[in-house]
Amino acid sequence: MSDQTPKQNIGREVQSRIYRAGAYGRRPGVPIDPTTLRNAARRRMSRRGYAYVAGSAGMEETAQANRAAFTSWWIVPRMLRDVAVRDMSVELFGRRLPWPVLVAPIGVLELAHRDADVAVARAGAGLGVPVIFSTQASRSMEECATVMGDAPRWFQLYWSSSDELVESMVSRAEAAGCEAIVVTLDTHVLGWRPRDLDLGHLPFARGEGIAQYVGDPVFTRLVRQRAAQPRTGGQPRPTLAAVRTLMSVARHHPGGFWHNLRSPLPRAAIETFLDVFSRSSLTWQDLSFLREHTRLPILLKGLVHPRDAARALDAGVDGIVVSNHGGRQVDGAIPALAALPGIVEEVAGRVPVLFDSGIRGGADIFKALALGARAVCVGRPYVYGLALAGEAGVAAVLSHLMAELDLTMALAGYATIAEIAPDSLRRLD
Ligand code: FNR
Repeated sequence: MSDQTPKQNIGREVQSRIYRAGAYGRRPGVPIDPTTLRNAARRRMSRRGYAYVAGSAGMEETAQANRAAFTSWWIVPRMLRDVAVRDMSVELFGRRLPWPVLVAPIGVLELAHRDADVAVARAGAGLGVPVIFSTQASRSMEECATVMGDAPRWFQLYWSSSDELVESMVSRAEAAGCEAIVVTLDTHVLGWRPRDLDLGHLPFARGEGIAQYVGDPVFTRLVRQRAAQPRTGGQPRPTLAAVRTLMSVARHHPGGFWHNLRSPLPRAAIETFLDVFSRSSLTWQDLSFLREHTRLPILLKGLVHPRDAARALDAGVDGIVVSNHGGRQVDGAIPALAALPGIVEEVAGRVPVLFDSGIRGGADIFKALALGARAVCVGRPYVYGLALAGEAGVAAVLSHLMAELDLTMALAGYATIAEIAPDSLRRLD
């Protein structure tokens, strides 16, 4: 496994590049300020696309609280500590990563850019930032893997109601070189999302965000079985050959004929997806099934209660992602950063704890690390970068975050990530 060379002093490098270009009258194409970035993406995206990405559950109070929680903690900078060379690398499951950052799994990226997950895969690989492929991706994990060389990638799993499909996706992830499986637990049904509801918009019902399924042999069989069932309303029954052809077309032309909902096969695929998407009856006992089917590290994403962290350890998981899905699931749920210290305390260093939900700047990353996260996942900001400039936009957003983290470390007096600790912060409520 080849490790990425730790990059040093990225902060000044990125800063100087931007200021130098500015001296010649060139402004950054991808805004640095998070709110300006989001607003620029909003102008570029369709109404329904932006609503899907920016929206959260209910009155979006948890989404707002995710941000507000960062203002409970303040960095207390230290001086005269030789920070001329900063090493931002961290170790995760036997691999040294150049930065304590991963790309969060985000579905339906075709809403932001036609290159979708492939652009994100390229950008992540270029910077050595692991990309977590979403189960709801717009491009298959196999296609993304082909543009990544041996750069790190993980697979995020939504546990389908078909265990056979779970098994199939996990073995495909292994074959595509994924180095960990992240099981997202907080989305076995979709949250109540007013922005999407007001537009009557669910991407999956239009055949968007189901590329991982369409290319899957088990899913293909389930669709065939469904398509072969007698139909009401006089719909023609597609032949097996037609089914095969259509599935292959669908695989290579995402976004094309899928939108013709009158066509019987896409409808069968969409309906099959809606049937098998997830299983709300899942319990802790089911995790052993996954353990039996993969040797990869298993992380649970969406934990915010310390007792669930304890159960996760009992179940033998290899890592935890503290997250509330960016406030998209339970409005009123505890802000993710407020949940982090309790989980870190419960886990007591036995497995790595990762964090997401609300990371918008380098100082946010610093705070999450100080509270015990081994690394953080970046979510919505990279989607906005993707909408603005494809691969280059994602790379810009990630570099800006790492540059700010680097400068925050330098100015706060930290030369390595390991030195960042709870006493780097002061709590002020
Ligand atoms: C998500 N997230 C998500 N998580 C996951 O495990 N699988 C998925 O397919 C998706 N899809 C998805 C779509 C969109 C549009 C968003 C915004 C988020 C959740 C994601 O991984 C992460 O937890 C949040 O994005 C973190 O919140 P912020 O920092 O983006 O606000």
